Amino acid sequence: MKNLENRILEDGIVLENDILDVDSFLNHQIDPVLMQDIGKEFARLFRDEDITKVLTVESSGIAPAVFTGLYLEVPVVFAKKNKSVTLRDNVYVTDVYSYTKETTTEMSASKLFLSNKDNVLIIDDFLANGQAVSGLLALCRQAGASVAGVGIVIEKSFQKGRILLEGSGIRLESLARIEKMDPDSISFINH
Ligand code: G4P
Repeated sequence: MKNLENRILEDGIVLENDILDVDSFLNHQIDPVLMQDIGKEFARLFRDEDITKVLTVESSGIAPAVFTGLYLEVPVVFAKKNKSVTLRDNVYVTDVYSYTKETTTEMSASKLFLSNKDNVLIIDDFLANGQAVSGLLALCRQAGASVAGVGIVIEKSFQKGRILLEGSGIRLESLARIEKMDPDSISFINH
């Protein structure tokens, strides 16, 4: 997606440890016009898949997921990372290890909002090593829901998330695929 790539080139800051700081439009301050374009593009890509629900994880997945749900006209569920007072026993739960942060987090979603009747589109902001998406897939498995595909805003193609997901045969659509990056330059894999 050209305008997303241009925005990454303009405003993205490459930090150490292969981290791209996009706080100015995605992870802290959010550009709703760009999110609208992202939602439209995911909806276009998955239009024919009979999606019943968009699933993401808090917090940075929520903005692109909501705009995708808007254009697909389906509800958006976000998995919660911290124990919630309203989520009690009626939940799907999985542990997610982040190589980026070197921490394990519990991810959960209510059984009220995900079931074996759902055909799910998973949306997330970043694909690095794929652990967050794997956690969302585990929640879908517990629910007996089918997964139509995964939509990622920014994929760091030099890390192993794509290989992990391709190995499981799931359709993966990333709007920007970073081939390599350093503090002076960022290059993309073109579709
Ligand atoms: P991992 O397997 O390496 O842990 O990667 P994963 O894709 O699971 O991402 C773990 C967390 O780190 C996610 O945020 C993800 O968005 C974030 N992350 C990974 N690489 C980058 C990067 O290059 N730049 C930025 N800005 N974030 C990155 P999270 O823990 O879910 O936090 P949040 O959604 O609350 O922001």
